[in-house]
Amino acid sequence: MSVLIKGGRIVTAADDYVGDVFVENGTVSLIGESLDVPADKVIDAAGKYVFPGAIDPHTHLEMFFGGTVTCDDFTSGTTSAAFGGTTTLVDFCMQAPGTSFAQALENYHEKIDRCKPVIDVGFHIGVTDLREGGSLEELATLPDQGITSYKLFMAYKGAVMVDDETLFKTMQVARDTGAIVMVHAENGDAIDIIVKEAVAAGHTEPKWHARTRPPETEGEATNRAIQLARVAGCPLFVVHVSCQESIEPIALAREKGWDVWGETCTQYLFIDESALDQPGFEGAKYIYTPPPRPKENQEHLWHALQRDILSSVSTDHCPFKWPDQKGVNGQEFQLVPNGGPGIENRLHMLWTYGVREGRLSPNRFVELVSTANAKTFGLYPRKGTIAPGSDADIVVWDPEKQLTISASTHHSNVNYNLFEGTKVTGAPEVVLVRGQVIVENDELVAQPGAGQFVKRARFGEELLPAQKVSA
Ligand code: URP
Ligand code: ZN
Ligand code: ZN
Repeated sequence: MSVLIKGGRIVTAADDYVGDVFVENGTVSLIGESLDVPADKVIDAAGKYVFPGAIDPHTHLEMFFGGTVTCDDFTSGTTSAAFGGTTTLVDFCMQAPGTSFAQALENYHEKIDRCKPVIDVGFHIGVTDLREGGSLEELATLPDQGITSYKLFMAYKGAVMVDDETLFKTMQVARDTGAIVMVHAENGDAIDIIVKEAVAAGHTEPKWHARTRPPETEGEATNRAIQLARVAGCPLFVVHVSCQESIEPIALAREKGWDVWGETCTQYLFIDESALDQPGFEGAKYIYTPPPRPKENQEHLWHALQRDILSSVSTDHCPFKWPDQKGVNGQEFQLVPNGGPGIENRLHMLWTYGVREGRLSPNRFVELVSTANAKTFGLYPRKGTIAPGSDADIVVWDPEKQLTISASTHHSNVNYNLFEGTKVTGAPEVVLVRGQVIVENDELVAQPGAGQFVKRARFGEELLPAQKVSA
């Protein structure tokens, strides 16, 4: 199958020009002006942008968490992602405490075999237990299987939180195996005490979710993780940065040239702590962690994205239904499963309020949602760019298309939307994964199983185009 995308404005992290892209056998084979080549399908992209497919490095599909399971699996989750212009996601393959990493991977491979994703999928390993479950030796074998990032939670005490010994030993393994360490950075011990005190005092409304997780606990853990990674000598990626207290140590580390990167997520740019304070228990819809912060943090986050203090915008899509899952007993915030949805609307929101409002250039937009994620997580240059030999993961983007974000029109299984009612301008018109048209004119046209598992390269190494690997 060959595809010719004609006359679009091709924007990568580095370039911006009008041209044609010719796709053969799943990869980009030719880029030029007015290409005169026969193709099975021609897409007229005049007046449209042509971007590399977006990469979401932070999703939680069909994940057991908070006593329940996220309501999107790899069918609905990848479908919803595709409608938003995401063509690859890297999900967290979670080690259940007491079990091995091999069991975790078997479990997650079963999920993608069963669910037949429509976009490409990779896994980070979620390390929760090195005492009775996984071992350091086993952890060291994972990069050979294409699992080149180790994720640890410094919060969620009594559930998936690890101690500093586990964190530090994992960092040493990462140093030796070429993996990158990812941290959820909050001081889980301090938060646990503050939550218990609040609950004992009868403070159980959703707004107490934010009040019991002060920004300083995020700043402290971010700094601790940075310093420990420095001692161990491994690269570090701080996930879902939400506030200035956490931006500051990342800015300092990057200024010093250390191997430290940070991401924020769409919701932290648009939703503030007031969302938790709603009549009844509705604020529970916004119980995700770190919590929505005081509004002034949003400008700090935009500023950090503009200056490459933060290098990535992901979704942390962790969907639970309202009220079936998020509602719990309608009274106690501390029992609500933590997580919010957002896999479909990242590009809509960033384009409308980032690019159109002059906060981001189109190049920086592409870098934040695609290229930087490809580089950090061992997918580049197979993914994250439009270049001869790269996978033809491409979004033809209509910059004038208007829509109102709503749970009634998104494609996730979740029944509410964090950005409900927000009007956006700019949306995908056609989405291709390795040259296959997945979404066209608001229709899913993908064959089930169009997506594949991707084995990622080690940190700092390139993932060669597929043809070169098999040749
Ligand atoms: O509240 C959140 N973010 N839930 C998902 C797990 C995590 O912390 O990333
Ligand atoms: Zn987290
Ligand atoms: Zn997460």
